[in-house]
Amino acid sequence: MAAKSHDSVIVLDFGAQYSQLIARRVRECGVYSQIVPYTISADEVREIAPKGIIFSGGPASVKAPGSPRPDKDIFTLGIPILGICYGLQVMSEMLGGNVTCPEKKEYGLQNIDIIDRSSRLLRDVSDHSQVWMSHGDSVDRIPAGFRVTASTPSCPYTVVEDDARGFYGVQFHPEVVHSKEGIKMIRSFVLDIAKARPDWNMGSFIDDAVEEIRRTVGDRQVLCGLSGGVDSSVAAVLIHKAIGDQLICVFVNNGMLRKGEAESVLDLFGKHFNMRLRYADAEDAFLSALKGVTEPEAKRKIIGRLFVDTFYNEARQCGDISFLAQGTLYPDVIESKSPTGGPSSTIKSHHNVGGLPEDLKWQLLEPLKELFKDEVRELGKELGLPDELVYRHPFPGPGLGVRCIGEVTKERLDTLRDIDAIFIDEIRKAGLYRDIWQAFADLLPVKSVGVQGDERTYREVCTLRAVTSEDAMTADWYRMPYDVLQRASARICNEVKGVNRVLYDISSKPPATIEWE
Ligand code: XMP
Repeated sequence: MAAKSHDSVIVLDFGAQYSQLIARRVRECGVYSQIVPYTISADEVREIAPKGIIFSGGPASVKAPGSPRPDKDIFTLGIPILGICYGLQVMSEMLGGNVTCPEKKEYGLQNIDIIDRSSRLLRDVSDHSQVWMSHGDSVDRIPAGFRVTASTPSCPYTVVEDDARGFYGVQFHPEVVHSKEGIKMIRSFVLDIAKARPDWNMGSFIDDAVEEIRRTVGDRQVLCGLSGGVDSSVAAVLIHKAIGDQLICVFVNNGMLRKGEAESVLDLFGKHFNMRLRYADAEDAFLSALKGVTEPEAKRKIIGRLFVDTFYNEARQCGDISFLAQGTLYPDVIESKSPTGGPSSTIKSHHNVGGLPEDLKWQLLEPLKELFKDEVRELGKELGLPDELVYRHPFPGPGLGVRCIGEVTKERLDTLRDIDAIFIDEIRKAGLYRDIWQAFADLLPVKSVGVQGDERTYREVCTLRAVTSEDAMTADWYRMPYDVLQRASARICNEVKGVNRVLYDISSKPPATIEWE
């Protein structure tokens, strides 16, 4: 993602969990941001010519031998620097201040007292503003030239500034949402202090990404597994925009997709975007492998293994492939423990692609790996993907297989597909789809007695589930309005032959999980 034509602010990564979040906040200010390892030399920084530099936080103690330090000549470039947490400490230590390691770590919310209202960093920030702290070490002497502009009772040097040299430091994390006015501080640094031009947006991201994909791929071929979900779809459309027919997409129908899903993927990507798309209809193979299997882990293993076999089987028929494209997002990227390398990536196992077979020597192409989910949605819209896909709820790799509790058969899957479609339709009609993280139905291997007309029925039970969540790690059940439940339930019992009873799941995660299996 090189963007020479745009002003930029670079983030020197000292191994912080939050480096990407800092870069994302800079992007929110409309300014291009790039993360670089803290080992970057002053010459390399001069080459990039950023308008500002942010030193990230990091897990190390500046007092520890061998703790990460930036090239000292970076301080002589005349480029404004903002140090965050460890970034502040390392700057203080290197410029002649001092850092101590008190016994007690400070972790949690604090309110800052602004003691100097002429502060440039805190220009738009209100007094007693809430910030989020997480640090062991503290600065106990600031370097000559700095002044203190804000403090807290337990942290005298909470915000320090040296306007003459353009050096600024904050002990808390302005990039996290718990720092209520953190974005205002970042904006002051980026726009007012560093004077970066806010001319970057998702359109610029596309131009830069297209250029970079072309440069990386050259005249070689890329394979992309399309799932119909947001991430792989956006990645595929972006790569297609860059290299057209050098991209081959593979879409595996495992027989456990939602109603109309295979058709809409083929239509959108094959016809509308005119991509080279291989469609592997493996429904029969999956269903026969799952015959008689009821144990959840066994089902997942069979589905996962068969997906891998099908996918690589298709891949081997695609000729010479050099890259495997994945819609990996930043939160999926597994961070390396060492602060030297910055984030490193690996193939996500829950994408069911697993490790590459020996004979396939592909490189990974992950054009979304610096982005967060909402940025990917924005990008998808910019690329012309329909809202329905861009805002689609997450759907697990094993699909309805893990929602068809008990044995997975074509008949039960068809029943579940119909139930799911009605539930989602009612949610959409009520205008609630985007308030919900995920909504779906499960079919239970339990029969109950009912009555329809004059007839007694004995049919399976289904359960509806809708949850709210930030990241799927925890979730709460969605307080679905009764009238939506009523309409969904009435339609399901009337229109779907296989069931006569509907339940609503009111379990949160933990202790339940989002999916039933
Ligand atoms: P659980 O059920 O563990 O789900 O609370 C958390 C989130 O992950 C999704 N999920 C999966 N996604 N492959 C996927 O791509 C899988 O095997 C898988 N299992 C669960 C689930 O839908 C929820 O969003």
